[in-house]
Amino acid sequence: MLIIMRHGQSTWTDKSVNRFAGWVDIPLTHIGIEQAKRAGGLLQQSNLKPDVVFTSLLRRSIVTADIVLDGIDRSWIPVQRSWRLNERHYGAFQGETRPAMHDQYGDELFATYRRSYDVRPPAIDVDSPFFQGKDPKYGPLLQDGLDDKKPSEIRSECLKDLSQRLQPYWDKRVAPLLVAGKTVLVVTHGSVVRAIVKMLEHVSDEDIRSINVPTGVPMIYDCGVSSDGTLAALGPGRYLDPKAAEQGIAEVSALGQSERGQSKQ
Ligand code: 3PG
Repeated sequence: MLIIMRHGQSTWTDKSVNRFAGWVDIPLTHIGIEQAKRAGGLLQQSNLKPDVVFTSLLRRSIVTADIVLDGIDRSWIPVQRSWRLNERHYGAFQGETRPAMHDQYGDELFATYRRSYDVRPPAIDVDSPFFQGKDPKYGPLLQDGLDDKKPSEIRSECLKDLSQRLQPYWDKRVAPLLVAGKTVLVVTHGSVVRAIVKMLEHVSDEDIRSINVPTGVPMIYDCGVSSDGTLAALGPGRYLDPKAAEQGIAEVSALGQSERGQSKQ
């Protein structure tokens, strides 16, 4: 079984701040911490016991996973962390507020940069304080040998780019555990959840635009093995708290409002 979730609310997804984070390593808010605790309670209620946990290299994902596991007394399970589970690199949008970018680029282009499959935001300037080119997280120490991608050189990503850097990690590190019948917890970011939903549910490049992901609500996939021995989802993902998910999805969409108050994704 796959348990996948976005981290809890972070300081920049708080609507009073409303900045694009991407690879900027911002912490959880108090609400985000409470969401992580509630997610642990939901796993407890459903008697779900992860055998292994995966996180990105960003603290909002790592801390959320730690809180969830603490809540179900499974802090001791093996953990694997990778930049490949990082949020989409938001390019020059990193550090900017959503309303300002919405007003600068207009409704259609802003919605395209935020939710399209294959259109990257403008690249971040290497001199920007929000560029991770010198961040030790992305140095040679953590090279995984899965391909020749160099995370320290990434300056913007679309969802297709994210899917391409995720796929080898998913195929080699995550899917084999699910095929073997393990319960796998993945605590990651909105765009990574969208990429995994797209892959498991065969969502089209166009339809993925309308999928938003709430913070801090676990989603479950029952998994099986297809005739060629590869992983198959046995149905659509289901949130353990559909009401909280619905509210969270609406909040994510509303973050994209312009200063003028028009609501667009
Ligand atoms: C971020 O990177 O700022 C968020 O995790 C995702 O932001 P979005 O919902 O505006 O894409």
